[in-house]
Amino acid sequence: MNCFYTRFCERFSLQVPIIQAGMAGGIVSSELVAAVSEAGGLGTLAGAYVKPDDLRRSIRRVKELTKQPFSVNLLLYEEPGAYAVTPELVDWLNGIRSELGLAPWDGEIPGSTDEVDECFSVILEEKVPVFSVAFALPGKYGSAAKAAGMKLIGMATTLDEAKALHAAGVDAIVAQGGEAGGHRGTFSVEGKPAGESVGTMALVPLLVDALPDTPIVAAGGIMDGRGLAAALSLGADAIQVGTRFLTCRESTAHVAYKERLLTAKETDPQITRAFSGRPARGIANRIMHRFAESGITALPYPVQNSLTREIRAAAARRNDAEYMSLWAGQGVAMVKEAGQSAAEIVEMYMAQAEEVVKRWR
Ligand SMILES: Cc1cc2nc3c(=O)[nH]c(=O)nc-3n(C[C@H](O)[C@H](O)[C@H](O)COP(=O)(O)O)c2cc1C
Repeated sequence: MNCFYTRFCERFSLQVPIIQAGMAGGIVSSELVAAVSEAGGLGTLAGAYVKPDDLRRSIRRVKELTKQPFSVNLLLYEEPGAYAVTPELVDWLNGIRSELGLAPWDGEIPGSTDEVDECFSVILEEKVPVFSVAFALPGKYGSAAKAAGMKLIGMATTLDEAKALHAAGVDAIVAQGGEAGGHRGTFSVEGKPAGESVGTMALVPLLVDALPDTPIVAAGGIMDGRGLAAALSLGADAIQVGTRFLTCRESTAHVAYKERLLTAKETDPQITRAFSGRPARGIANRIMHRFAESGITALPYPVQNSLTREIRAAAARRNDAEYMSLWAGQGVAMVKEAGQSAAEIVEMYMAQAEEVVKRWR
């Protein structure tokens, strides 16, 4: 047993206190999830934007590759109310579409690809060991997951959200600091351009002190073993890592995205609503700049996400990172290596954290 075996490890039957974040958008392969779980951490499949049958296939593949616990993550949201498509938004959209050689928008909002209920049924049927949710309390999904004997994890960006998750009976809470890449779990983003953005260093000890009986998982900007040691020093029981796994061998992130990650500066990741309608942190590129300059308001999540889907698909076909969502956290400048395996990354975190502890001694 390593010296970082925490009550989180015990509760979730893990060897190392590292969760690989579920990352929606075709990034997380079953091979990545299984590799992290085989290395003693908790691999997480992303269930958002995935068809139920595809999710079932991915879950079954993970089960073929490992007998260790793994998790599936869903993004929970309420259907948006009324919204207006402004001429300015259409101008922005069509400007981008024409740069990519796409015909002007036909005025139809494509349906969301999300089938949350169906995906959750798959998660239940497949008896996935751990279920994690973001954007909201787990609600009916959480009760069903607990009744089925699953472990439950929720994402929080404030103390109030963490307290509500605790009251909802989750087994662990991820404290997502504002440094984090991609979408964070802020329950209500209305009137908050960047969502809630409390830094990891400030958020983690706050939650640790307020909720001593619940394992707190630190997330956001934790790029190596120094970050792991720091998070545990703050009282966290584990870390959740997204950005650091994006360039690994098992990651299925687009090659142009992976290349851009390796040259990113610490100031490149910015928060935008351009792609999905919800604030999320990604490397600033042409589509984000054009959106910021236009001063327009995005449509609510997930409508904006549906509206920009064709743009992202066209960008992927053209290998053009200027129009893709390049989700990444503020620690991205520390990602220097591509092609490491996920297991090597887990080992790197653990070995470096041990070095830190030795140095302290
Ligand atoms: C590419 C990418 C996609 C993400 N997608 C999700 C998601 O689908 N669900 C979720 O709960 N969190 C998602 N996140 C956020 C992670 O859960 C986590 O908070 C974050 O990656 C931690 O910060 P780091 O990127 O600095 O490691 C995503 C993060 C990234 C980088």
